[in-house]
Amino acid sequence: MKITMLSVIATGLVIAGCSQMGAVPPVSALNDGQLSLPADYKGWAKFLTAVQREDARQVRDIYMNADAGKGSAERGFPEGSTFVMENWAVKLDADGKLLKGADGKLVKDKLAAVFLMGKNPGWGTNVPEAQKTGDWIYTAFKGNGELNGEAKYETCRGCHAPFKDKDFVFRYDEHFASVKSAGY
Ligand code: HEC
Repeated sequence: MKITMLSVIATGLVIAGCSQMGAVPPVSALNDGQLSLPADYKGWAKFLTAVQREDARQVRDIYMNADAGKGSAERGFPEGSTFVMENWAVKLDADGKLLKGADGKLVKDKLAAVFLMGKNPGWGTNVPEAQKTGDWIYTAFKGNGELNGEAKYETCRGCHAPFKDKDFVFRYDEHFASVKSAGY
């Protein structure tokens, strides 16, 4: 009898809890290092491609999921947005200098790392105030797709945090300018 009563109360609580949250199931809160690498990201829209980073000896390709694709220069990016950035090492010549292709651009060698940024309500709330970047969290993978267990997420945050009025996304202006010129 006791058990039946308890289960009735418990069921009632669960139902009340769900109706408060509406039809959308809650996304569990995640922290840095807990995003998984989406298997299909290479099929996502490109945010920017072949970003030339001679200083870092890298070429970077940035992909965005469908939610991020709904972002705008006025509103920033909606909750649910994810960016995946491939960091490619580049080829060097025999003297160790950066090799350039016929197009004058750096030449991709091996995939060195894959960086993710994702946002959802309540994500990343456990970081110190100075490192907060809205609801964005960060995760780093090695070039072979394994999680980089040694990533220092405070460095990701330290670099991205100053870009508050660009939704913490570095090449915000460059991206929205390219979207405009493509006539989307
Ligand atoms: C030294 C500064 C710096 C650090 C540290 C840094 N980033 Fe970034 N991040 C950038 C810049 C600059 C870009 C724009 C692309 C470029 O120019 O290379 C960028 C772009 C990105 C993007 C593509 C979306 C966007 O914001 O443009 C992701 C995803 C990302 N970084 C994740 C990370 C993660 C994860 C870490 C930590 C493991 C990290 N970043 C650390 C400077 C930094």
